[in-house]
Amino acid sequence: MSVSRRDMLKLGALGAVGAAGLSLPLGASVSTKSASRLASKNMPKPFQAEFVRQQALSPYQKGLNDEGKPVHYYSVTQRAGTANIVPGLTSPVYGYYGWDINLNRWVGGVPGPLIHAQQGTEVVLRMRNHLPRVNPLSGNAFKTSTHLHGSASKPQYDGYASDVTPYGFYKDYRYPNFQPARTLWYHDHGVHFTAQNAYSGLAAQYHLHDKAESELLPLDEFDVALTVSDAMFSANGALAYDDNSHSGLWGDVILVNGVPWPTMKVKKRVYRFRILNASISRSLRPTLSNGAPLVIVGTDGGIMPKAQPVQNYRHAGAERYEVLIDFRNYKAGTKIQLRNLSNKNNVDYDFTNRIMEFVVTDDKIEDDRNNRIPDLLVDSPVMQLTPQESVKTRNMSVERKNGEWTINGKTWVDVENSDYKLVVGDPDLDDVEIWELENKSGGWFHPVHIHLIDFQIIDRNGKPPFAWERGPKDVAYVGENEKVRVLMRFEHQRGYYMMHCHNLPHEDHDMMQQFSVGMKGVEQDENDPIHADPCKVDDLPDDDS
Ligand code: C2O
Ligand code: CU
Ligand code: CU
Repeated sequence: MSVSRRDMLKLGALGAVGAAGLSLPLGASVSTKSASRLASKNMPKPFQAEFVRQQALSPYQKGLNDEGKPVHYYSVTQRAGTANIVPGLTSPVYGYYGWDINLNRWVGGVPGPLIHAQQGTEVVLRMRNHLPRVNPLSGNAFKTSTHLHGSASKPQYDGYASDVTPYGFYKDYRYPNFQPARTLWYHDHGVHFTAQNAYSGLAAQYHLHDKAESELLPLDEFDVALTVSDAMFSANGALAYDDNSHSGLWGDVILVNGVPWPTMKVKKRVYRFRILNASISRSLRPTLSNGAPLVIVGTDGGIMPKAQPVQNYRHAGAERYEVLIDFRNYKAGTKIQLRNLSNKNNVDYDFTNRIMEFVVTDDKIEDDRNNRIPDLLVDSPVMQLTPQESVKTRNMSVERKNGEWTINGKTWVDVENSDYKLVVGDPDLDDVEIWELENKSGGWFHPVHIHLIDFQIIDRNGKPPFAWERGPKDVAYVGENEKVRVLMRFEHQRGYYMMHCHNLPHEDHDMMQQFSVGMKGVEQDENDPIHADPCKVDDLPDDDS
């Protein structure tokens, strides 16, 4: 067996497990026993724990903004907490917690509080940093920046990596919510430590609702957030962290909403699942164990023009896919697993091929709204764009250079050293462009995310996009030796925005760049991401007092 340098790098990380359990067909995913150091009595097993829903947080106040439009105010505290993830042990986590004024208790932790936003109602999200001074996983300060991924927020509210909120400060983030309904998520984006911070628990879904969606897709009880992530644990139950020299973290435990391989009871009905892969590196290939289709109805930027039934699909970190599963025709007691077929260049373990299990019940269905599999869905401006409208094509090469992850050979340190002036592109406001996201290596895949806009994938290596990608996107899975062309209009907002790899150890080291929109000739940037509305000293009362 010959092992390339690249594979050595990956194997180095498997540490005590050693090379014994490894089989290494090059280019395929690597399979081995475990990454966690838990005693076997503490090691979670698939389908033993019950599914937990992500809990919604209520706004603590409602009002009107300067333009007389409605605003909902939320307050979230970033702090240490504990979670019961592995049997018999308590895991410290560092997450988002919101004091719910209706429930009179904290909601959140892992996963964080779910925020339901309505199109046309602005959200002001107060983020308070009450975290410990140091993140034990990174050994560095917990300086946070909160990004609402999927929102066309102003630059100063977009979680710009270098716009950090240290311990004892807070920042009010303003989210406009004018876009079409979609599944968003908010997660930490603190410069150079995003991976450890998000992995520690700083991640949660946020749903933007509108009329079209409410007339088409299952709602409320049957509209279910599934945040999937992988993790590895130390013997004492704490999260362990090993990103294999910044190549990626490959946990042996699959969590759904913070629960290892849960079992969910479902009624004989159509369900809508909003699947977010919140893994910091791992990509998934979800499939159902009984061969039934997953009907993809939504992508990162919302509902697709046409439903796409698939047997399985490729799902990288940060991508959101909304999937309908039809449980109408099963007998009570039927068990169906959501499995993971994995993809190239992941490291797999005994149970990473499973995600969760559904058990069909006879329970009464009281809500029959949108209990069907629609075919035609919703069109959107981005899906109507044509390549002929593009005024410029830019090539963005994601590559390893001098031991660093780079975009066109440049890193975020280069952006810092330019006093945040360096850009990979500078479209005018409302310009349509094509970006070629290119990965010349067979050794890695890169989920490339562009802030601010939604894009349409026009092709991949000259071929049409996969069925599941035919909707508005903001992350493109740029697989091994792939060139993915994306088409977008740089609309809504002038200013500086990031683009980066969403394998978070890659992003932190240092595959992140920025672009500007409509900034040519602008002297004074009123939306400067760092200076326009910085964090403030937090001498506010505690939310629960
Ligand atoms: Cu989800 Cu710039 O990130
Ligand atoms: Cu984003
Ligand atoms: Cu990458």
